[in-house]
Amino acid sequence: MCGNSDFRNIVLIGFMGAGKSTVGRALAAAASFRLVDTDDLIIQNRGRSIPQIFAEEGEKAFRRYETEALRSLADTRGLVVATGGGIVGRPENWDLMRLLGPIVYLRAGWPTLRARIGACTNRPLASGDRSEEEVVALLQNRLPLYEQADLIVDTENKTVAEVIDEIRRGIENGCEHG
Ligand code: S3P
Repeated sequence: MCGNSDFRNIVLIGFMGAGKSTVGRALAAAASFRLVDTDDLIIQNRGRSIPQIFAEEGEKAFRRYETEALRSLADTRGLVVATGGGIVGRPENWDLMRLLGPIVYLRAGWPTLRARIGACTNRPLASGDRSEEEVVALLQNRLPLYEQADLIVDTENKTVAEVIDEIRRGIENGCEHG
């Protein structure tokens, strides 16, 4: 899909705090695409917040809803799809994301991610009684998955405009992992 200038959508992946929503919003505006966030789709479809879903139905149900949200986008075009940080865990999600368009990993190191996540309480996997060690372990486990993206863009010390520019050039150049 990547390298084909006829791509339909752009998919953003990365850990919590990677900037998927912020970059996604600006990227969508720059490309005249529409931003869709899989977390928002789930909230709309289920009529409850992410912490509520985790608390009442568990993470497994949330992961199912995440796959359903991706599947619901199958015939779309002109979207920037910002995904939840854990979407990379299910192999079937990769098939669905690849159908959508080039997959871009927004990469940042833990100190930056930690600062961006901050004291946010609406991320069940990075708040409450989760220790920093547990969250770092989650990040470490996911790194090899994120690195399967078509394009890897480092976001450390870059403006949103610079990140968008790299994404655009990377996609134009056929991705090659960044
Ligand atoms: C999660 C990340 C969140 C959200 C949910 C689970 C994760 O999205 O999907 O809390 O497993 O990393 P963001 O990455 O947008 O914070």
